[in-house]
Amino acid sequence: MIQLYQGDSREIAKDLIAPGSVDLIFTDPPYAKKYHYLYQWLGQEAERALKPDGFLFAYTGPYWKHEIMTMLGRYLDYFYDFVLVHGDTSILWQRKIVSGYKSILCYKQKGRKSKPYMNVLGKFSSSEQDKRFHSWGQSAFEARYYIDCFTKEGDLVVDYFLGSGTTAEVCKRLNRNFIGIENDAETFKIAQARLTGALGPREKGRQIELLPEEGEISKGRSHQGVG
Ligand SMILES: C[S@@+](CC[C@H](N)C(=O)[O-])C[C@H]1O[C@@H](n2cnc3c(N)ncnc32)[C@H](O)[C@@H]1O
Repeated sequence: MIQLYQGDSREIAKDLIAPGSVDLIFTDPPYAKKYHYLYQWLGQEAERALKPDGFLFAYTGPYWKHEIMTMLGRYLDYFYDFVLVHGDTSILWQRKIVSGYKSILCYKQKGRKSKPYMNVLGKFSSSEQDKRFHSWGQSAFEARYYIDCFTKEGDLVVDYFLGSGTTAEVCKRLNRNFIGIENDAETFKIAQARLTGALGPREKGRQIELLPEEGEISKGRSHQGVG
């Protein structure tokens, strides 16, 4: 079942999500420094909500990664830094770096020896971010890949920062149960429309990209070597 809620995750998550009930948190909080308190909350919430062998996946950029890892590490054990390489680059002017990647940081419950269901790529060559529905929208390719590797059908996946519903759409297609929370009313409406298929032909037509040909996935597999 796919369940979407509008509200502040920090206020409503405890009522919606039972302790120790979540197989995978896959989420994309706002990265900017002024929102770092959300990662702090996310670490604490993941410790509460994840099953003993559940995982947290949280997107972050390279700029503040150290701070984010320090926060998450208070509540969880580090598992891996999955690196997403996109075709485009951006300039971090403060450090004079031309960056071409972002991370999905992966954490597990403290002291557990949790593992994914299959061997997993540490580096993923994804398509561009998907800006059709949200100015910060992520591509569904990596979400589909990692959710498939870390969960099985019927598992519960949660996204506390739903945005336009990329994670929800992937979970619907992969037959995962899903709870998504978004606090912005307009963004929430877009996520709902996306999930119910109430979008125009242009957007609907492109959703087929979510299930790429085998060649697309193995394109990602062919890039090895991030350690
Ligand atoms: C980076 S965007 C997520 C984009 C998403 N990955 C996508 O593909 O569309 C982060 C989202 O979190 C939402 N948000 C910020 N604070 C929140 C909170 N406390 N509770 C729920 N949602 C929140 C923002 O409105 C924004 O839509």
